[in-house]
Amino acid sequence: EKGGFEHFMLKEIFEQPKSIKDCFRGRLIADEAKLVLGGIRDYATALINAERIVIVACGTSWHAGLVAEYIFEEFCRIPVEVEYASEFRYRNPVIKEGDIVFAISQSGETADTLAAMELAKSKGAIVLGVCNVVGSSISRVSHEGVYTHAGPEIGVASTKAFTAQLTVLTMIALKTALRKGTIAEQRYREILVDLENIPKKVEKALKTDEQVKKIAEIYKDARNFLYLGRGYNFPVALEGALKLKEISYIHAEGYPAAEMKHGPIALIDEEMPVVVIATRDSSYDKIVSNIQEVKARKGKVIAVVSEGDSLIPGMVDHTIEVPGTHESLMPMVSTIPLQLLSYHIAVMRGCNVDQPRNLAKSVTVE
Ligand code: M6R
Repeated sequence: EKGGFEHFMLKEIFEQPKSIKDCFRGRLIADEAKLVLGGIRDYATALINAERIVIVACGTSWHAGLVAEYIFEEFCRIPVEVEYASEFRYRNPVIKEGDIVFAISQSGETADTLAAMELAKSKGAIVLGVCNVVGSSISRVSHEGVYTHAGPEIGVASTKAFTAQLTVLTMIALKTALRKGTIAEQRYREILVDLENIPKKVEKALKTDEQVKKIAEIYKDARNFLYLGRGYNFPVALEGALKLKEISYIHAEGYPAAEMKHGPIALIDEEMPVVVIATRDSSYDKIVSNIQEVKARKGKVIAVVSEGDSLIPGMVDHTIEVPGTHESLMPMVSTIPLQLLSYHIAVMRGCNVDQPRNLAKSVTVE
């Protein structure tokens, strides 16, 4: 059932070109510039008119929510707040009638996310689910929702569910933006074509596997890792760090790269591996300076860069090249080598990759 792979996690990482395609199959028709999202038909207008969006989720799904914040704000010009479900539910949050609350969950059974939705509903919000498991509690409690259709995810570390969540959230945002008139039609069309090409790019990013494995060999005994990103790649840094800590038990922190100088920079010495997601986007020049700051303190830098980058390879210890795409879609590609890095390190350390200690696939207790 692992399809020839040693672990479910690896199988699920490699399934992503297909799971992303499954996610937009029948929904994204790029040559007609069409997005069909039947699951949220009744609330499409409410979404356009929403004064704000709140996203509630936990763990990796919360990271997908952070990417969605940037996407919705950029394309739809709707203010977005992303909340840990566990915090939201206990702090008497301000929710107004007509606010849109997205609940993102692979399993659809996460207790805190479910409780956060119920609270939001009781205050008059429209609650939309983005779930993977069909018929799950969260999908049943939502007013409407869009399934991610990534297929069963068995490995405790979420991988293909994350990229499918990003696919769904991007489609919702683009459709809303077009109807709202906050995105130019030409740009909308271009991004749809880019989205349709993501599976091919993920396929290519998966080809870094052997190279990533060699890097894993070098750093598998590190005690700490730092992950840095900016803009759309900031949540990718958080996600990379979470993946590493949960399956390899190496302490890792993700940070927005510029925040480094407000504290974490003190950790950097020649022992410290720093993974920097530095693909070509609007924050490229800024992240190049952040790389220089790390190198000036002798940190070891593993950089995820866009294909053909001729500047960063000369500055860092290792580069991993991934294909470029529109910056809002980049997390689906740039997260791939980070999934592979955590996987290989965990295997080399003899960890139980699919069932890490102390963790359950779905957290049904608060
Ligand atoms: O099923 P959910 O998406 O609601 O789960 C949320 C988190 O428990 C989950 O993403 C967790 O953080 C994963 N183990 C991360 O890989």
